[in-house]
Amino acid sequence: MAEAGSAAKRKLGILISGRGSNMASLVEASRAEDCPYEVVLVASDKPAAPGLEWARAHGVPTFAQSPKGMPKAEYEARIDAALREAGVEAIALAGYMRLLSDDFVARWRDRIVNIHPSLLPKYKGLDTHARALAMGDMEAGCTVHIVTEELDGGEILGQASIRIQARDTAETLAERVLVEEHRLYPRVVSEWLNQLPR
Ligand code: GRF
Repeated sequence: MAEAGSAAKRKLGILISGRGSNMASLVEASRAEDCPYEVVLVASDKPAAPGLEWARAHGVPTFAQSPKGMPKAEYEARIDAALREAGVEAIALAGYMRLLSDDFVARWRDRIVNIHPSLLPKYKGLDTHARALAMGDMEAGCTVHIVTEELDGGEILGQASIRIQARDTAETLAERVLVEEHRLYPRVVSEWLNQLPR
């Protein structure tokens, strides 16, 4: 039973396109009693995304909609309808590989976060680890930020960094940064949702 005065959990929706390891870390963290959110929907643009299978196996409702053969606006309207139907209040992107339209971002203004595998504002976009290595950087990391119309450009909510080692490749870096992502994302999403207006 909820304690007197304790607020209802915030309803989080997660968008994925692939394996969904960050989604899984968010779902696992949500099972703690004191976690401020519950994951009410995992949605994907890829019906065969392995992350959807994981979500179903862990009792999380899922929704898949391929954007193929329809205008982007219609595809996004279907995603939007599924999120609203599930009562979603805020969205976490977790390896969602599609650009959201300005219209979608505006409809969820300040209610979408993303995790990006670089220390933003460095290395927006793809191939972040290879680019960090090519620049001779000493450290790599990940960033959780608010999603705006500018790719990987919204307010930074939290970051984690690791030291780059001489023998690192883009693959070893990705692996070690991913461990940090799995710690960072649930913590920052919880802090963010704790102060998000109802
Ligand atoms: C992660 O590295 C994340 O930072 C980036 O895409 C990758 C998704 O991995 N946005 P997963 O699907 O969460 O395992």
